[in-house]
Amino acid sequence: MQKRTKKREKQTYFASQILAWYSESERPLPWKEEKNPYFIWLSEIILQQTRVEQGLPYFEKFKKAFPKIEDLANASEDQVMKLWQGLGYYSRARNLHYTAQIVAKDYAGKFPDTYEEILALKGVGPYTAAAISSFAFDLPYAAVDGNVYRVLSRYFGESTPIDSSLGKKIFQQLANQLIDEKAPGRYNQALIDFGATHCKPKLPKCTDCLLNSTCVAYKEDAITNYPVKTKKIIKRDRYFNYLLVNFDETILIKKRVEKDIWQNLYEFLLIEGDCLLEQKQLVENEVFSKLFESQKFEIRTVSKPFKHILTHQNIYARFWELDLKKPLKNKPEAFEIIPRESISEYAVPRLIDWYLQDNSLYLKL
Ligand code: ADE
Ligand code: SF4
Repeated sequence: MQKRTKKREKQTYFASQILAWYSESERPLPWKEEKNPYFIWLSEIILQQTRVEQGLPYFEKFKKAFPKIEDLANASEDQVMKLWQGLGYYSRARNLHYTAQIVAKDYAGKFPDTYEEILALKGVGPYTAAAISSFAFDLPYAAVDGNVYRVLSRYFGESTPIDSSLGKKIFQQLANQLIDEKAPGRYNQALIDFGATHCKPKLPKCTDCLLNSTCVAYKEDAITNYPVKTKKIIKRDRYFNYLLVNFDETILIKKRVEKDIWQNLYEFLLIEGDCLLEQKQLVENEVFSKLFESQKFEIRTVSKPFKHILTHQNIYARFWELDLKKPLKNKPEAFEIIPRESISEYAVPRLIDWYLQDNSLYLKL
């Protein structure tokens, strides 16, 4: 019994210290002022897998472009993707658009106000549902994101792996016990901010921490051991040989429709292979020779190799600029011909944007 009381005391102490820290050190962020659940949802989708500094301008852009959820629902998919360009994890943008349409249609534009309904929306998992429920409607659901896993595992010395199903259950239970039922929105936001700015992944501010006298990881001098994870991400290497096919100020582009990275973004002609090709290998490549057979062309430049690191893949890429002497005879259906300068109107992967922005560096052949 005594042990239980002690545990409960530690939990109450933790919650009160987190709120005390927040009163002193709160970050001023635009969505904190929001009570409009549409904007809160928008901010949470943007902040999934994205840092606050990177997400902020996107939040403002979307709010401006789509002041009401119906505006987002009525936008074209290309328009949504273009605004999302550069944020990564593009399925978020597709789900955002889809969910806006559901809310506009099934809920007459009024954002649902129960945890279960919010959780049922596409692109919304338990964390995001709890965040929206508590921030917008002050419902007592504990939002457990990466920040919260880290803080709780360190402070309570909880070493069950956070990427195991048991770990998820334990941390959610612990978080549910800790939540301040009187102010769940404020408490959740406080804990997220504490993790993001104070109990950071690297160099947490332990010596200047209200919790350091009772923090297990700090006492054990073992901060880097928390949180524990079982799985190591295994990365796949991919090699993208991009051809920029130019004719008379126009270029070929194609929408990526496959279920793969960058779905619904635009790209150039892609020859994916086991390596970055040299010129001889390129012109002898099957896709290449089929497209350009009996066609006069000149290879104008080749770029430096690019490396683009994604969560589960490393993309190595090189861009070749090709000048056709005559229009392409057998243009595959999936390709569009557009004026080169209008590429800026299309949503493209960051990798392609980088290339377009610094293609002065390229080797003339
Ligand atoms: N990350 C995810 N949600 C957040 C929020 N509401 N504030 C700050 N960082 C976050
Ligand atoms: Fe985090 Fe360090 Fe504070 Fe513990 S003492 S809660 S590890 S910042």
